[in-house]
Amino acid sequence: MLIRRRPELTASDVTPPGLFRKRRRGALASLAAAFGATLIGRAAAANCGAPLPQAVRTASGETPSPLADIAGYNNYYEFSTDKKAIRILAQALTTTPWAITVEGEVEKAYTLDSSDIGRLFGNEERIYRLRCVEGWAMVVPWSGVPLCKLIERARPTSRARFVEFLSLKRSSEMIGQRAAGSLDWPYREGLRIDEAMHPLTFAVTGLYGEALPKQNGAPLRIAVPWKYGFKSPKAITHIRLVAEQPVTSWVKRADSEYGFYGNVNPDVAHPRWSQARENRIGELRKRPTLYLNGYADQVASLYAGMDPARLY
Ligand code: MTE
Repeated sequence: MLIRRRPELTASDVTPPGLFRKRRRGALASLAAAFGATLIGRAAAANCGAPLPQAVRTASGETPSPLADIAGYNNYYEFSTDKKAIRILAQALTTTPWAITVEGEVEKAYTLDSSDIGRLFGNEERIYRLRCVEGWAMVVPWSGVPLCKLIERARPTSRARFVEFLSLKRSSEMIGQRAAGSLDWPYREGLRIDEAMHPLTFAVTGLYGEALPKQNGAPLRIAVPWKYGFKSPKAITHIRLVAEQPVTSWVKRADSEYGFYGNVNPDVAHPRWSQARENRIGELRKRPTLYLNGYADQVASLYAGMDPARLY
């Protein structure tokens, strides 16, 4: 058997000091990046468990809108632009089985069936105000889990700065996807990572204590109560952690009318109508619109140093 002698070190084998320092910086940087990823995970985890006051979780002082209104007056372009027809048309959608994939800038991408969400992450009730950019509003008793729990399980890396949501594309069952001149499918929405990880941001699987009706986005939709309703996508199939701000369906269609942030703000008019007041469905008199839909105490700090007028 031939045993090789260890070769003698020559001058060319010795790393020059400059290169050595560079490599060491590189190694330290990757260590820091890995540590950063862990830190983001930890910060997210801490934020995720942050308690929300009971009054905020249940919109105390508000009366939930009747189920007939919540499940009978909808926006869901995959089916129709006729708000009252969606309740019927959406019944054509097959919602079981339903795979949801959490992927992208994560350490551990995963796919689950929507029926596993309750078992894996629990189930909570939240009563939230919902304000549509069109000027109508409701109060909705959702059930589900904070979105951060789904994201946290995938362990986002430090490169994850935004979250992109993809809704289902299935024109055989979604008749509105066959209509000419509608949105580009699938419906895409997005949030900044800190918005997505905020304990108010909710992954919804139920309504009024029952399974989520198809017209409201079954089996999984998001509720971001301080933003206009278009930022709360329905029928989600992918939750993608990304480095760059996603180009959302509405930004692509008309960014001057439906910007990436979509924060509720009575002082920033839509180019075609005022946002100062809103029509709570079922009420005769309009109400004043609340800044950040009444959630400013919880989320205004996310936008410190930014001009609220630019967060439409
Ligand atoms: N999600 C998808 N996939 N497609 C849509 O057309 N419409 C949005 C949002 N989510 C929409 C969507 C808009 S504009 C609003 S106001 C809310 O859903 C309405 O939710 P609701 O019908 O449960 O009240």
